[in-house]
Amino acid sequence: MKTIGVLTSGGDAPGMNAAIRAVVRTGCESGMRVMGIRRGFKGLIAGDMYEMNLRSVSDIIHRGGTMLYSARCQEFNTEEGVDKAVEVCREVGLDGMVVIGGDGSFRGAADLSKKGIPCVGIPGTIDNDISSCDYTIGYDTAMNTIMDMVDRIRDTTESHHRCSVVEVMGRNSGYLALNAGLAIGATCILVPEIKLDIEHYVIERMRRTQKTGKEHFIIIVAEGVEGIGNVDAFASYIEKCTGVESRATILGHVQRGGSPSVRDRVLASEMGNRAVHILINGIGNRIVVSQNDKISDLDIHEALRMKKSIDLDLYRIANEISI
Ligand code: F6P
Repeated sequence: MKTIGVLTSGGDAPGMNAAIRAVVRTGCESGMRVMGIRRGFKGLIAGDMYEMNLRSVSDIIHRGGTMLYSARCQEFNTEEGVDKAVEVCREVGLDGMVVIGGDGSFRGAADLSKKGIPCVGIPGTIDNDISSCDYTIGYDTAMNTIMDMVDRIRDTTESHHRCSVVEVMGRNSGYLALNAGLAIGATCILVPEIKLDIEHYVIERMRRTQKTGKEHFIIIVAEGVEGIGNVDAFASYIEKCTGVESRATILGHVQRGGSPSVRDRVLASEMGNRAVHILINGIGNRIVVSQNDKISDLDIHEALRMKKSIDLDLYRIANEISI
């Protein structure tokens, strides 16, 4: 491999810059040219890229977002889109590629690998919804951001004896909600993976807790939870049923920004380094994963077929002790 490309795709995540840095530095130190592709697969199709060197990635390890920018690219989901991208790779002389993103991005990486451009994926998403991987880049930082924000919400919730309903991101998964919810001592945590009778779980639980003298409540709701309407409506419903004045907060994109945590920087550096070493050996169609605190790699299709779910025991613990 003489020349490799690196791109970030899908929703950005804190730590993506640290991963880019590791890819560029490992590539350059191994004697390869490294091309930085802007705006993910969209930029690849448009040929929007530039040659990077050791200094191009100075002073980015601590920054959130992605210096290469990111995008979700519909065109790349089509056969013509993939063909266009392959054509660009051939013109520029890209022999391999590192793709940093989520499941959708790995499908793209698998398509390119199939067409002769070996790709290695690195899981970067705050949602932690990559089945083959225990920890994705950005997840730890996002959990800490949620914890900080909800600690602040708790101050005012307590002062006013209110109930705060806080919606967190996660798309269709509840990893952020469950772990951050346990860390902030939420009275109730609602996640898409566990279907509950809301009346029984939330209202009864609040009533029971009120009887023990508790006067303020935090309810964490993952954005993918169905059947409760929007969080404003849900807060009004809680107020009507319990008599506790309630407010809703949607944390939103604040969860995607900020300086990456130690864990995310270390994970990103390890994964970036590993991805390039896989490419150096001429291997493609792989995804770098973190399993049981060890970094390894898997075939992309095998990884995409794997299933994981939230830790039900953690959910039990949260319910047992946050009362
Ligand atoms: O996948 C990351 C994520 O932040 C999800 O948690 C959320 O559902 C989605 O992206 C939001 O996407 P966008 O930034 O395009 O609105």
